[in-house]
Amino acid sequence: MSEQNQNPEKRKVVFSGIQPSGNITLGNYIGALRNFTRFDDADCLYCVVDLHTLTVRQNPADLRKRTASLAALYIACGLDPEENCIYCQSHVPAHAELAWILNCFTYMGELNRMTQFKDKSAKHADNINAGLFTYPVLMASDILLYQTDLVPVGVDQKQHVEICRDIAQRFNSIYGDVFTIPEPFISKSGAKIMSLQEPARKMSKSDPDETFIAVLDKPEDIRRKLKRAVTDSDGEIRYDPENKPGVSNLLTILSVLKNQSMDDTVAALQGLGYGALKEAVTEAVLAELTPIQTRYNEIIADKDYLSNVLKRNAEKAQYLAGKTLRKVYRKVGLLQL
Ligand code: TRP
Repeated sequence: MSEQNQNPEKRKVVFSGIQPSGNITLGNYIGALRNFTRFDDADCLYCVVDLHTLTVRQNPADLRKRTASLAALYIACGLDPEENCIYCQSHVPAHAELAWILNCFTYMGELNRMTQFKDKSAKHADNINAGLFTYPVLMASDILLYQTDLVPVGVDQKQHVEICRDIAQRFNSIYGDVFTIPEPFISKSGAKIMSLQEPARKMSKSDPDETFIAVLDKPEDIRRKLKRAVTDSDGEIRYDPENKPGVSNLLTILSVLKNQSMDDTVAALQGLGYGALKEAVTEAVLAELTPIQTRYNEIIADKDYLSNVLKRNAEKAQYLAGKTLRKVYRKVGLLQL
């Protein structure tokens, strides 16, 4: 983010969101959350995207709980809610309002190509609802409302940021420069953490418990899950995602959490066995997550604190979003009062 220092006039805007749809995993943490703290000199908004979560049936009480929990986790991961706008999507009506307008600027064919839609509709064949289909339009609205420059996401969300850019460019080409065109920000190392049991698949909070590590997992669960993580039978510690997906995934976790290059990570384990690799990964994961869990427990215990943060930040977000939304309404020809 060095360009910013050269141009102090315009601070960059960073926007990202995570769905409160289940346990936040080590994969979400490494792919997204951990990177959120890197943008010191930008205006950052981190949203709990609860409306997106409704595309799949939810238990209402659980959803409410997970929404608050995710907001607390953002803060516990080191995002100061005074410096970063941490808020909940449904508290800012502008998201759903812009989504309607942008739905009218998005083609069925474009949405049909989205791999997440294809995956999710295969997985929830009994509930292929219109919200699941237009999910990327709501995501585009999230991003475009704040004139966002950078969107830190895991690599699986790149396609959604691309369709967001296409929609924004289409709109701008008709109405002038209404939206900033955002760029995805995908961290090079460890953007994608795989399942501990089926290392050819992404680590996912909607898969069975033993396949992922949750950021809030107890230390004994973390130890057990890593101990049981699938490796292979050749016994050699080497980074080779194609032929050795399990071992490579463990090495990725280790190298990212230790901020160490892959070469150095592998070199440090030369001559050792998989037991030692798993032990090293376990220590690194615990060292990373334990302080987060401690802070999380403090935050979640203070209900007033969290609801004040969410309220204040929702007002701030609505103020910023309102500026873009009013401009859009005017441009498309909606009558102003
Ligand atoms: N679709 C994202 C995911 O599932 C979550 C999301 C919603 C998001 N809106 C966003 C991410 C805006 C970045 C920016 O991971």
